[in-house]
Amino acid sequence: MSRAFNFSAGPAALPEAVLRQVQSELLEYKNERASLMELSHRGQAFIDCAAQAERDLRDLMGISDDYAVLFLQGGATTLSALLPLNLARPEQTVDFVLTGHWGEKALENMKPSVNVNVAATAKEGSYRSIPARDSWQLTKDAAFLHYTPNETIHGVEFHDTPDVGDVPLVADFSSNILSRPVDVSKFGVIYAGAQKNLGPAGVTIVIVRKDLLGKHGRNLPPIFELQNQVKNDSMFNTPTTFSWYVIGLVLQWLKQQGGATAMEKQNAEKARLLYSAIDGSNGFYTNPIELHARSWMNVPFVMANADLDKAFLKESEAAGLLGLKGHRALGGMRASIYNAIPVKGVQALVDFMQDFAKRNG
Ligand SMILES: Cc1ncc(COP(=O)(O)O)c(C=O)c1O
Repeated sequence: MSRAFNFSAGPAALPEAVLRQVQSELLEYKNERASLMELSHRGQAFIDCAAQAERDLRDLMGISDDYAVLFLQGGATTLSALLPLNLARPEQTVDFVLTGHWGEKALENMKPSVNVNVAATAKEGSYRSIPARDSWQLTKDAAFLHYTPNETIHGVEFHDTPDVGDVPLVADFSSNILSRPVDVSKFGVIYAGAQKNLGPAGVTIVIVRKDLLGKHGRNLPPIFELQNQVKNDSMFNTPTTFSWYVIGLVLQWLKQQGGATAMEKQNAEKARLLYSAIDGSNGFYTNPIELHARSWMNVPFVMANADLDKAFLKESEAAGLLGLKGHRALGGMRASIYNAIPVKGVQALVDFMQDFAKRNG
């Protein structure tokens, strides 16, 4: 058996070089005579490994000292519940721009702790676009505005950072963090589950402007208080050490590739290849998203004849192309083409799709 191209939405493909390094260090990490999995998070070996990962993330994203960088547990889902507790007083309002499933889920998670206002939504159009910025009904003095720069299921991505004045922008970057350069200084919080573009499941990256914390006026359990994690370098309790370590390796790999700028170039090319194949198939395949909002990371597509779905999935898997089944909410297919998928992986998918269309069209 050889490794296939894995288009899974998450947990997702990791760079092969990273997996090989993990393999080589699995039994004995550096000179520790034990696996990193077996080492205390309070020991110097892990502390050095953790600190290096933070430094690399700061370098790669240009994160200033005004921001804390956390490596937490609980996934983006838990974070979306913790954010209003930490950033908003109970009587405040949080604005939402909804462009898909994950924004809706974050809203439900925040509802018990703050007032929520849907400033704009693309739901009526089945989440195929991004509402024009001048249509957003913003709340004056909102605690923050939450949006999802890349909606993993619907395949809708913001290609610019929206301008909302002084209201802190809070963004769930789970499925497009480090896929291109982003000006972190425009954000109050960037958060992301690691399991798509950064490493294995288990860590949630949180980049938070320090001055936003500690003003909520609530009596929170200490473990929910993000300031406690800031003060304790994300080790207020035991962190997911192994995932943190693998993320560190992915960050080093990203640096070797040329960082976010190199990823942007490669991701643009991958997206161009795949959307061109879909649009050039004479209707055999379609992607429903408006051009301005098409995701570079997650590309859902359907076939005119849905009876062919099963054959497509079976044959693509046999051809070494994994994880193409669409999300159950939308059906059809979805190719997730995160940083770890090389251009040649997308080319292999496009070749398969063209051949499949020829044989079944
Ligand atoms: C954009 C986005 N937000 C949130 C989540 C949920 O993340 P988790 O399962 O880590 O809580 C996902 C998972 O697919 C996602 O893609």
